[in-house]
Amino acid sequence: MAPPPEPLISKEQLRARVAELGREITLAYQGEPLILLPVLKGSFVFAADLAREIDLPVEVEFLGVQSYGDDTVSSGVVQITLDLTRPVDGKHVLIIEDIVDTGLTLDYLLSLLRARNPKSLRVASLLHKPSRMQRALVIDFLGFTIEDEFVVGYGLDYAQKYRNLPYLGRLSPEAQGSS
Ligand code: IMP
Ligand code: MG
Repeated sequence: MAPPPEPLISKEQLRARVAELGREITLAYQGEPLILLPVLKGSFVFAADLAREIDLPVEVEFLGVQSYGDDTVSSGVVQITLDLTRPVDGKHVLIIEDIVDTGLTLDYLLSLLRARNPKSLRVASLLHKPSRMQRALVIDFLGFTIEDEFVVGYGLDYAQKYRNLPYLGRLSPEAQGSS
């Protein structure tokens, strides 16, 4: 069996940073209603924790996307697997992402959602790998900046595994071969 992923960001660090992000978001919207839009599947754990740190009248909608095969390299092709159930025109919308890597997924989602005329459209992402960015995008609320390495846990997967790991870890080379 492959060794467990090597810890990169601990449970405690995640909890503290997510609480800070929740406070920043609460302040930024000044009591206005907000639609939280987690992008599935990767952001489900982050979004569940973040939502509970936001003190605003929120609604939750989900978007499902798939931009990867079972590989660690972005294909650049974004497929919508689940769409919103209600219109967002005239509403504040906050996209919740697990990680912005090349930025191709987020770029696509931003154009898709802008076309639906929200009152505002902002982005919260737990992680960002700036070295791989191929699009100039603004992440309004960012948890952590990381190096160019493949991470798993806290919702993020490798070949659909490790999403339930309570911390963020680096995948060992052995594990990458053994999916
Ligand atoms: P992008 O389109 O290259 O920005 O890729 C975004 C998506 O790729 C993320 O939402 C993740 O689902 C996935 N991804 C990118 N880097 C990682 C990683 O290090 N671990 C797990 N998933 C990743
Ligand atoms: Mg994702």
